[in-house]
Amino acid sequence: MPRHQVFELGDLPWVPTHFKHYLTDVLSIAGAVGERLGDALCLEPQLDLLAEVLGEHGQIVDLCSGAAGPPMALRRRLAARGVSADVVLTDLHPNLKAFRRAARAEGCTFQAASVDAADVPASLTGLRTIFNAFHHFPPALARRILKDAHDSRQAILIVEIPHRRVSTALSLGAFSILTLALTPLIRPASMERLLWTYILPLLPLMVGFDGIMSCIRAYDTDELAALTEGLDEDYTWQISRTRGAGALLAATVLLGQPTPRGDNAG
Ligand SMILES: C[S@@+](CC[C@H](N)C(=O)[O-])C[C@H]1O[C@@H](n2cnc3c(N)ncnc32)[C@H](O)[C@@H]1O
Repeated sequence: MPRHQVFELGDLPWVPTHFKHYLTDVLSIAGAVGERLGDALCLEPQLDLLAEVLGEHGQIVDLCSGAAGPPMALRRRLAARGVSADVVLTDLHPNLKAFRRAARAEGCTFQAASVDAADVPASLTGLRTIFNAFHHFPPALARRILKDAHDSRQAILIVEIPHRRVSTALSLGAFSILTLALTPLIRPASMERLLWTYILPLLPLMVGFDGIMSCIRAYDTDELAALTEGLDEDYTWQISRTRGAGALLAATVLLGQPTPRGDNAG
């Protein structure tokens, strides 16, 4: 199936911001449930390398954070290996309720102002992470994000569960049903969220629709490799498709990292 830059409902400018946040709240709770079952983000094979990239105490600058689920899961997995990492949450439409909750519960920090992943402020240094959002960017912008990490000598980790396969699209479409099951677990509870989930079920339909659209515009490993072409000045890229232990779905993982100058391992 060729890649198409289709739209997602959650990206439309006239969808209210708090409604966009309802969508990312669902993704975060689904991710939390997945993490309880196993390595839902398929990060276990990368952890040694990420620990090395971060050193004993590094910083993760999470872009497109949504409701903050995946970066906090990564932080916990690293902590279990003795690596403590600060996490800075950012988003074009910051979900401040979710950011504050993550800050209270897990001690991360966040940018309250909008941060565009395609234009990261130079003051935000550290391992850049983008979970399940790289498909939002058309090729020119996607390349710009990778080039900026390369040019500013920052490491970047991209993890994408959306995949251009019918089976993955059907699985993410089924998040509609998952939304009905998981909504009672989302905090804070909100009458409006319940209304749009159970009485007029627009939210579950949007979650399922956006899940399918995400798959149609996901990059495969060859396309990611093409996006990194020429970005190899003292910088290496690793791209893989892996399924974590106990994970229901596989993930496409790209890790770019600077190498010591003049010591490019390719
Ligand atoms: C599918 S959600 C993923 C959220 C989260 N990373 C996760 O995995 O649960 C996509 C997120 O990307 C954000 N986003 C979209 N375009 C963006 C941009 N240009 N810069 C920063 N964030 C963006 C949206 O606001 C949304 O929160």
